[in-house]
Amino acid sequence: MKRVYLTRRLPEEAGQRLAQAVELEIWPGEVPPPREELVRGLEQADGLLCLLTDQVDASLMDAAPRLKVISLCAVGYNNVDVPAATQRGILVTNTPGVLTETTADLAFALILAVARRLVEGDRFTRSGAWQAWDPGLLLGQDVHGACLGLVGLGRIGQAVARRAQGFAMEVIYASTSRKPAVEEALGVRPATLTELLARADFVSLHVPLTAATRGLIGREELARMKPTAFLINTSRGEVVDEEALYAALAARALHGAGLDVFHREPVDPGHPLLTLDNVVALPHLGSATGATRTRMAQLAVDNLLLALSGRQPPHPVNPEGWGGNPVARSGERP
Ligand code: GLV
Repeated sequence: MKRVYLTRRLPEEAGQRLAQAVELEIWPGEVPPPREELVRGLEQADGLLCLLTDQVDASLMDAAPRLKVISLCAVGYNNVDVPAATQRGILVTNTPGVLTETTADLAFALILAVARRLVEGDRFTRSGAWQAWDPGLLLGQDVHGACLGLVGLGRIGQAVARRAQGFAMEVIYASTSRKPAVEEALGVRPATLTELLARADFVSLHVPLTAATRGLIGREELARMKPTAFLINTSRGEVVDEEALYAALAARALHGAGLDVFHREPVDPGHPLLTLDNVVALPHLGSATGATRTRMAQLAVDNLLLALSGRQPPHPVNPEGWGGNPVARSGERP
């Protein structure tokens, strides 16, 4: 039987399916396993099923001589050194598709929350400060008819664009590649990032974290945005320069931000961004519904088991790692 190390308990059905198919070791903690534990757990493992909170780098792979598959229960895979995996003949898989609509729902929830001041309104109502209906109380901005700028138009960006149609929004996008079929189907218009930043009332980020997107939204980019505009981030915290974002928001050079992701997660409760009323902050909840987390876990298990049995899994990140040429490693391909 193949050996698998799992870095957190999975939803019941997926966990049981995995436990029946392999010799399974599960990290029992509620927080990610420390590095030494991962090293120990991977000593004999053929497969790793992990989360976006586990850093899987080259030296960890080197400490895992039998490892053939890293199955990530997430769509973003910036926490795994994919080139290092490919070089070692290790296949990396992820779980795209099944979380698209759920994550788009959350991005739209943040748009509505920041524009209509939902969190401030909730705090106000509970505080007992509500004296009377007031024509000037907690005035926000309209979402319907506003301009939405999507940075990245992959699966999730497109799903956000579909929601925007129902709100009669103008939708523009900036992407490294033109998507004429999507433009046609969803009525979205291409723009350069510079144009998008200057025009959009809501700038929503839907790019993966890569060397090219790290710090993509910095001081200059924020300065291009309208002072009435909002930034929404459901991708990865490192895409945005947090210090520059704080400075822009504190100076009211930007109207507000809806943030589901941060440079360091969990974000420090004393983080300057969390002192601002014009920020809605969430603990990385993009895909957090019961149904979607179950689908992600099932897909991560499918990817892992297929790869361990030598069959092509549905979502390889580095298909070139499949049957690749292991460098300085012993063992057969799965
Ligand atoms: C969540 O952030 C994911 O990448 O699945």
